[in-house]
Parts: sequence; structure tokens; C-alpha cells
Amino acid sequence: MKKTILAAIAVSIPCIALADAATDAVKARQDHMKGFGKQVGTFAAVAKGEAEYDPAVAQAAADMLVELANADQSGFWLEGTSMDDLPGVSYAKPALWENTDQVTAIMADLQAAAANMQAVASDGKDAMVAAIGPIGQQCQACHKEFQAKKD
Ligand code: HEC
Repeated sequence: MKKTILAAIAVSIPCIALADAATDAVKARQDHMKGFGKQVGTFAAVAKGEAEYDPAVAQAAADMLVELANADQSGFWLEGTSMDDLPGVSYAKPALWENTDQVTAIMADLQAAAANMQAVASDGKDAMVAAIGPIGQQCQACHKEFQAKKD
């Protein structure tokens, strides 16, 4: 009896550890995405007239966006962490793992758009606002294909 329980525990521990690693990976990428959202929100608020343009604030957001766009994300996008694997936790479509070339290409375009923003963010409101579009296009390009809507 004792032996059976111990065996059961020995089997279940690696499963728990795996489930945690998967959930942690999803949380980490969702936090990363929130970071993207925060920086883009800073630019968008100025574009919409909801916030005053401040070159230092714009530059800080652009610097952070570049950092996030260039960060190593390999630990986030683990196999087995799609919305089918982790319903209610993950909102990433399984197609993302079947189209990694496309995902990498979008990320590269996002890095370029973020670098452009970094170069012009403190050059005045018009320059900053003009640099938002190409960033938003990459967010959308990926979300349209690979992100499921939360209910
Ligand atoms: C290469 C693909 C890709 C790119 C590029 C991308 N996203 Fe995402 N984003 C996703 C996926 C997939 C999810 C769903 C992640 C999950 O739930 O596992 C997501 C989720 C989000 C979320 C929701 C996070 C949460 O709280 O659950 C926000 C906000 C977000 N993205 C903002 C952005 C912004 C802003 C950009 C552009 C600067 C961007 N994303 C670029 C794929 C991408």
C-alpha cells in the first residue's frame, strides 16, 4: 500500500513540475505582451490627444519597446502551451507553432519598427506619431493569425 502511494507521488511530481513550467511560460509571455501594450499605449495616448507629448517619456517607452522586441522569447513559446493545451490560460492558437517562420518574420519587422521609433521618439510629436503605425501593424499581423480573443 505504502509503496503504491509513493509510486503515485513519484509519478505525479514531474507532471506538476511540467504543468507549472507550461503555465509559467504562458504567464511570462502574457507579461511580455502587457509590456508591449504599455509602451504602445504611451505613444497612442499622445496620438489621441489624451496625453501631452513629452520627449523623455516617449524615448523611455521606445527604449523599453526595443528591449522587449529584442528579448529572447524562446523560453515563452514552449511546445504544448497553446490554447488547446491550456484552455482558459493560453490564448495562443496552435497555428503559431506550425508557422514559426512567419512568426519570426513578424517579430523581425516589429524589431525594425521599434528601432525606427527609438530613433525618432524624441524628435517631436509628429515624428513619434508617424512611427506608431508600423509598430501597430506588426502587433495586429500576429494577433490576427495567432491570438484567440479572450471571452
Ligand atoms: C509574433 C506574434 C505576436 C506579436 C508580434 C505581438 N503579439 Fe501580442 N500576443 C500574441 C499572442 C499569441 C498572444 C496570446 C498569448 C497567450 O495568451 O498565450 C498575445 C497577447 C497579447 C496581449 C494580451 C496579454 C494578456 O494579458 O494575456 C497584449 C496586450 C498584446 N499581445 C499586445 C501586443 C502588442 C502591443 C504588440 C506589438 C507591439 C504585440 N502584442 C505583438 C502574439 C503576438
